[in-house]
Amino acid sequence: MFTPEIITKFSNTPTPFYHYDLNVLEQTLKALKSEANKYDYHVHYALKANSNNIILNAIKQFGLGADCVSGNEILKAVECGYNNTSIAFAGLGKSDQEINIGLDHNIFCFNCESLPEIEVINELAANKNKVANIALRINPNVNAKTHHYITTGLEENKFGINMWELENVIEALKSFNNIKLIGLHFHIGSQITDLSVFKGLCIRVNEIQDWFISRNIIVEHINVGGGLGVDYENPDENLIPDFKNYFGLFNQFLTLQPSQQLHFELGRAIVAQCGNLISKVLYIKNGVNTNFSIIDAGMTELLRPALYQATHKIENLSSSAPTQKYDVVGPVCESSDCFGKAIDLPETKRGDVIAIRTAGAYGEVMANRYNLRELNEVVFS
Ligand code: LLP
Repeated sequence: MFTPEIITKFSNTPTPFYHYDLNVLEQTLKALKSEANKYDYHVHYALKANSNNIILNAIKQFGLGADCVSGNEILKAVECGYNNTSIAFAGLGKSDQEINIGLDHNIFCFNCESLPEIEVINELAANKNKVANIALRINPNVNAKTHHYITTGLEENKFGINMWELENVIEALKSFNNIKLIGLHFHIGSQITDLSVFKGLCIRVNEIQDWFISRNIIVEHINVGGGLGVDYENPDENLIPDFKNYFGLFNQFLTLQPSQQLHFELGRAIVAQCGNLISKVLYIKNGVNTNFSIIDAGMTELLRPALYQATHKIENLSSSAPTQKYDVVGPVCESSDCFGKAIDLPETKRGDVIAIRTAGAYGEVMANRYNLRELNEVVFS
């Protein structure tokens, strides 16, 4: 549970800073493992959500694999001690240099998104006298019912191989001597809170598997990606995501072939709730409808609200006065640098400590130096 003790403990740390609660992370990982282990499911942690070394080390202790989307993420996973045979490499624009990094580290699998990409991997693997394991990322055309910027599994999206191209791809694979097809991969989007969406994915995956089986192809693993959402409005009430129903649903609706393994790539659900962005109020300024609370964190520290109209719970840790309405805004010269409009906060004054909750995923990793702002500090407890 998040407490304002943070104010005293880190009173000397300049704001804004990210605070990670390793106890929350551990509780989350325990819950995840106990549910995933029931069905012998393999979970790769999606490094893109948060690639802080301390977080990566904590996750590794629970035996998760790594889902990487760049050569540097592969190197980071290796540096943090993730087993190379647990590293999957995804992304539709892998450069030759990044593919070579994957080949040099003999990673578990390249999740491939197009025939031209597979051709290049085959060629680069041949240069090294190696055989690269690949999975085909298939676009299942399933609506994730989430923000359109984080929807990935519709035909109109740039991700994955479309069904109508599969026949060609399967035919072409026969002539590639340095490629081994070991899996099918899917990822339909992120921050999915309606679990029935995953039921729809399972049904579609079953159909696609039937298509492969009818061509005598049975792969070693199915990877259903990530996407499990978290509760941004009520973090304390729902600190730990509903892993029980999530994994249970796949167990109920996805048909695996004998000896086939099921893999997941979760990012947000693992790290979102353990992180908070801590900021201070710089100024209170009168507005036409509400007052502005101008804080020292902005879209440079947490881009999600500006980029996806995402909302995070905002708390004033310094005040318990009656509430007033505020537009909580950052200092950056962009109107979209706004964390919340007309939100209720205890009466707020200069110097009050503000917590922006559920910021552990896609927060620190997306920080940037726009306006030449400093990158934030990071603390743990
Ligand atoms: N696998 C693939 C292929 C992905 O593209 C992603 C996320 C994941 C796994 C992990 O998804 P998760 O379990 O975290 O939902 N920056 C955005 C989210 C972008 C997600 C990109 N792909 C945000 O702040 O909401």
